[in-house]
Amino acid sequence: MDRRKLVVGNWKMNGLAAQLGEVEAIGAFAAAHPSVDVGLCLPATLIAQASAVSGAAFIGAQDCHMKDSGAHTGCLSAAMLTEAGATSTIVGHSERREDQGESDADVAAKALAARAAGLKVILCVGESLAVRDAGDAEAVVSRQLLASLPDGAAADWLAIAYEPIWAIGTGRIPTMDAVAAMHAALRAALATRIGTQADGMRILYGGSMNGDNAAELMAIADVDGGLVGGASLTAAKFAPVIEAAG
Ligand code: PGA
Repeated sequence: MDRRKLVVGNWKMNGLAAQLGEVEAIGAFAAAHPSVDVGLCLPATLIAQASAVSGAAFIGAQDCHMKDSGAHTGCLSAAMLTEAGATSTIVGHSERREDQGESDADVAAKALAARAAGLKVILCVGESLAVRDAGDAEAVVSRQLLASLPDGAAADWLAIAYEPIWAIGTGRIPTMDAVAAMHAALRAALATRIGTQADGMRILYGGSMNGDNAAELMAIADVDGGLVGGASLTAAKFAPVIEAAG
């Protein structure tokens, strides 16, 4: 199955208008690498301005609410993000699962809300270090994935990001064998729910991916791209990751 590589930056709570030049440079680099799908999931405050300068890179959000509207102070609906210029959103990032207490059911509901507003979705899963050390990582993350997967999940609007929590922002990554085994396990888990659609669904790796390790990670058969935090904040750091996917 030929899956186009997808490389997405996650800026988290970083970025002011002063960084729009980086968005523009990343968009220009993406235009020069048309075989790779490139996107940036930005703070919502930057989405409208970034959409105007992002060229070949799509602009996404980092979360959306599961409801269309209502009394949810400080939250943003999927339609608001779409109107601002987002074409995709992350849901279920481990930082939100932990900081905001989001459950698997919340994540599935958010994915459906995003889909209903026309957003593509990057759904994150991943294990803690305790789970990894206990030797249960593949079973635990497979269960988490199936519990978070929205009804009607399909490869044309949803991608998975496997992000071991202990690898995020730490400079540590699993062994290549461990990444390969996890991605194969997740694809097999997907197949139990969505059958042959699982072959076309992109499964990204995330957690300390950078220009030094991206080529090796993305050469793994079931790794279809990356979700990149720290190494996506500047064009200089992100360009080698995009290049590694091409
Ligand atoms: P990192 O973050 O690349 O800085 O480890 C990845 C993520 O949390 O999506």
